[in-house]
Amino acid sequence: MPIKTIIEPFRIKSVEPIHWTTRAQRETLLRAAHYNLFLLHSNDVLIDLLTDSGTGAMSTHQWAGIMEGDESYAGSPSFDRFKRSVQDITGYTHVLPTHQGRAAERLLFNVMCKKGDLVPNNTHFDTTRANVEITGAEAVDLVYPEARSPETILPFKGNMDVAALESLIARVGREKIPLVMLTVTNNSGGGQPVSMANAKEVSAVCKAQGIPLYFDACRFAENAWFIKQREPEYQNHTPKQIAQEMFALGDGCTMSAKKDGMANIGGFLCTNDDVLARQEKDLLILTEGYPTYGGLAGRDLEAIAIGLQESLDEDYLRYRIASTAYLGDHIAAEGVPIVQPPGGHAIYLDAAAFLPHIPQDQFPGVALAAELYLEGGIRSVEIGSLMFAAAAKMELVRLAIPRRTYTQSHIDYVVEIILEVWRRRTQIKGLKLTYEAPYLRHFTAHLEPVG
Ligand code: F0G
Repeated sequence: MPIKTIIEPFRIKSVEPIHWTTRAQRETLLRAAHYNLFLLHSNDVLIDLLTDSGTGAMSTHQWAGIMEGDESYAGSPSFDRFKRSVQDITGYTHVLPTHQGRAAERLLFNVMCKKGDLVPNNTHFDTTRANVEITGAEAVDLVYPEARSPETILPFKGNMDVAALESLIARVGREKIPLVMLTVTNNSGGGQPVSMANAKEVSAVCKAQGIPLYFDACRFAENAWFIKQREPEYQNHTPKQIAQEMFALGDGCTMSAKKDGMANIGGFLCTNDDVLARQEKDLLILTEGYPTYGGLAGRDLEAIAIGLQESLDEDYLRYRIASTAYLGDHIAAEGVPIVQPPGGHAIYLDAAAFLPHIPQDQFPGVALAAELYLEGGIRSVEIGSLMFAAAAKMELVRLAIPRRTYTQSHIDYVVEIILEVWRRRTQIKGLKLTYEAPYLRHFTAHLEPVG
């Protein structure tokens, strides 16, 4: 009989204590944080599912690589190793290191966009949207209409609506669209994958119109695993072959190495365009650093070079995707509404269905996230009306799983806490805003309970 249990493909060499608080302490802490979990101290959090970004554990191989880091200002061999690793997977000509993903976005959109332009994406992440909009361009989300219904089970809910892309181009004209982006996996839309078939269609439309296609590649390895599992013609491909094939459909990418780079910091921007690369490098030098380190230490470049390859390991990806599904399946089995099917890096609670008595303008997602903290010291993040204001299509609470960090018993605890909150959901109240910043307001907003 084949063995069914999927185990963590590692053993633990170094441990980090986590911190318990009492419910009374959490009530005080939450009030002091203005009901915004970003404003908590992480020492007051027991299980931190705020993000999978930069929060994962590095391997012994990566830690060894860190000691090999060469900290030369220019021409560091660490950069060569970094560049080789990135190019091995992406095949792109120019590789610019950046301190994280949003720095790559800023360089890309500054060079490519101007006021009045439109940038289509399946779904822009919050920093991506903000970096497009600060140039005066408009960020347009064109995800499949079915993806907006949380309960619909489809294999590739991250796909772009190709017909909508074509009609947008026909309506506004090709010259208004400096680039098209495809986010793999689609974080803000539930961590859902994009199929190779869809990427090929998007690429064909872009090529026919002469519009460059860029990937927001943060979770490219998880996306490749979903393709291997769900697109029959790829079942015998390695995740790396799949990633290589997908990158070859585009002209470049932005990347946060804090996700599938398996590092605690870092990112990069790639392009095949020599002219753009030169402009991007000039901006990089102005704000990030010399092009062989781009705001990172040489040791960070080493960690990323190794981490990118580790993220494509089949044993790792099998465990990674299974452990996310484990959380989703156990709460969904008890009736908890989640975005189906479970995504790659996170489970998304459907707060609108979880708390139907809380209207959208009272932030059901923020209220649910606050309750999970009160009940069990779990930190999650709202992806809904607080994060996206009027652009919000759903009211979600994301439970993002850091890579290689928590064990199954941690997740069993999270399941228990969510089910407890689910049982007393009718008592949960909405919130109102008492302070908001002009952009990316969710990071610093203050709220208080209504009534
Ligand atoms: N694109 C996507 C799809 C992302 O998920 C993120 C970050 C970024 C770009 C920006 O990268 O943080 O390195 O500047 N997402 C994190 C998250 C923060 O929690 O989902 P960054």
